[in-house]
Amino acid sequence: MLHARVVGSGQAMLFLHGFPLNSRMWEPQIRVLRERARVIAPDFPGFGLSGPPLVEPSLDHYAREVISLLDQLHVERVVVVGLSMGGYVAFRLAEPLGARLVGLVLADTRATPDSADAAAARHELAAEVEAEGVEAAASEFLPKLLGATTLRTQPQLVDRVRAIMLENTVPGVAGALRALAARPDSTALLSQIRCPVACVAGEEDSITPPDIAHEMAARIRDAWTEVIPLAGHLSNLEGPDAFNDVLVTILDQKR
Ligand code: MLT
Repeated sequence: MLHARVVGSGQAMLFLHGFPLNSRMWEPQIRVLRERARVIAPDFPGFGLSGPPLVEPSLDHYAREVISLLDQLHVERVVVVGLSMGGYVAFRLAEPLGARLVGLVLADTRATPDSADAAAARHELAAEVEAEGVEAAASEFLPKLLGATTLRTQPQLVDRVRAIMLENTVPGVAGALRALAARPDSTALLSQIRCPVACVAGEEDSITPPDIAHEMAARIRDAWTEVIPLAGHLSNLEGPDAFNDVLVTILDQKR
């Protein structure tokens, strides 16, 4: 069973973290949303406080673990917030959750799979992580995840993100890299989503720029795009107030 932070009461709101972070990345959201919702923020296997992966991870495996957690917590209707890898998992949840999914925030993510080159680079990094430790992934990802403005003006946030990355385990991080490399194309699922969806991107996100959020929103029946000013790929940490406003909006719009 996944470890999860569970606080607050009311409408369930599930927060799925990005790579190579863990549920601590959602602290600025948990602080605010716990007053309005039942916040559930799991750690994927081998991340944060969750135990190591017991099978070779895949995004569908993560999705099954998340559904077991929701079942165990007796959650009937849920708003899902997924950032980047968390968004990839949210795509895999849409079908199995069906009508239980009442709102969705797809932040700094994309429905398309890795190119062959990108997948090969992930396998190389997974081997490096196994040889050298999770620092290898932290050094590779930290400068890419944060926007230019954050890197220039928020040294404390840079340190915090690095610290969160170093809390994760080698099997968790290496397994996730291989799961990311193998992820399927979720584009066809977009037109089947029936709940309100906010597609969010940091203005300075160089991994999944705002154009990608606009393209996803155009394929979803009831979706809009929000661009978080002066934020990079970790838009929830880099622009927490604007990001939280989106969460409150989707919470109010759920059906
Ligand atoms: C993430 O933030 O989860 C990662 O950037 C995902 C990815 O590398 O595709």
